[in-house]
Amino acid sequence: MAKSVPMPSSQTGLRALQALLRERHPLAALRVFQAETGNVFRIRLGHFAPIIMVGPQAARFILVDAYEHFRWRNEYDPVTELLRHGVLVEDGNKHDTLRNVMAPPLHPKRLPGYVATLIRRTDQISAGWQDGAVVDMLVEMRKITLLNLLEALYNVDFTEPMKELWFSILTLIRYISPGLWMIWRGAPVPGASSARQRVDRYLYDLIHVRRAAILAGKAPGDDLLGHLIMSGIDDDLIRDQLLTILIAGHDTNTALLAWSWYLLGTHPDAMQRAREEVDNQIGNHLPDVDQLSRLRYLGFVIREALRLYPPIHLGSRVAGEELEFDGYRIPAGERVIYSIYLTQRDPALWPDPDAFIPERHAQGAQQPAFAWLAFGGGKRNCMGAAFGQLEARTVLARLLQTHEFTLVNAAVHPHMGATLEPRPGVFMQVRRRR
Ligand code: HEM
Repeated sequence: MAKSVPMPSSQTGLRALQALLRERHPLAALRVFQAETGNVFRIRLGHFAPIIMVGPQAARFILVDAYEHFRWRNEYDPVTELLRHGVLVEDGNKHDTLRNVMAPPLHPKRLPGYVATLIRRTDQISAGWQDGAVVDMLVEMRKITLLNLLEALYNVDFTEPMKELWFSILTLIRYISPGLWMIWRGAPVPGASSARQRVDRYLYDLIHVRRAAILAGKAPGDDLLGHLIMSGIDDDLIRDQLLTILIAGHDTNTALLAWSWYLLGTHPDAMQRAREEVDNQIGNHLPDVDQLSRLRYLGFVIREALRLYPPIHLGSRVAGEELEFDGYRIPAGERVIYSIYLTQRDPALWPDPDAFIPERHAQGAQQPAFAWLAFGGGKRNCMGAAFGQLEARTVLARLLQTHEFTLVNAAVHPHMGATLEPRPGVFMQVRRRR
């Protein structure tokens, strides 16, 4: 007979609370739950009572083995409410069809064509830094990733719209972040509906302008927007995909880049090594895709940043029917979460799990599959994994080439927003390299 999923004891709850207060983030509490209750446990926050699952076996179960028995969509979730029928929140055939439409511009073979844009937009933002000034890399990286994404995938210059839509985008991100809605369904988020109107107006305009150009005989464009329009789906469904990619495609890389700078800033030896590698491989020239792919150490830095601070630190599903995992009963309709963060910091899988050791990735596949799963896995793995990694490599390499960075605030903690963000920010003094 399968057992019920255990809840942590009250003693464990107390220790979890102490960890939360000490480390200032709820993931610290979850680690105590896992250490004392095991790899499958339940947490309760009002009506929100998901089952949390940790480890490669659990991830494989959710993402591959029992894939057909889970669904993503959850009607009571602000993510579904905002993204409506975006690929991220659809299931079954609808999901697969949308994924196929959007796949070509995100295919790895398209990556070399994006490098020039990624460099140009990085330079555009860094040109605004005064020599010796302190900038918040969390903010600066968001500017870069927004400009990169909108130009690479929608073929637009987002410089001016970004100024107008900046706070609206941040408000929408807050809207889909963990918050009061978990215990109070429909809890208001101030400013969310006007933010949504403003972003929607911009996206519908993009669709109308491109559609008119196509009708006037211009080529549709081989970008994501062109593929969506040519697939014949209606404007509402196109808007849902554009908003999904806008949020999923830039907020994640903002977090990855900001954490990478934080880790390099707190480990000057790693910063030095990464810079030397960039200098040796690329020198003073504009990087090309082959040179970027040879930045082996920088690749390990990115992989280690993704391990320690996975921007998407969990994957959420709903059990479509009663299931059993590792002797535990998962009732139909339950929300089940696989924890990327806990898996990637599990001492049973990763020696010295909290330490930043980029070289650990040099040894090849030491860990079982799904021990590192920053991009998820199976049929719903990240659609932008190749783009995201190329972007991180290009932006970091280009800025290491052009600037010196010194971290001025080491007291940073992970904040559970839509992604895992370094708060209060990553403040660095920037100096142009002569
Ligand atoms: C560092 C960057 C990124 C990280 C760490 C990341 C992480 C993830 C993860 C973990 C998932 C799976 C979530 C789950 O199982 O529920 C996912 C899905 C997804 N990601 Fe990413 N992502 C990144 C960048 C991007 C980019 C650049 C794009 C688009 C340009 C993108 C688009 C998507 C989409 C559309 C999905 C949903 C796929 C589906 O459900 O079929 N992501 N991402």
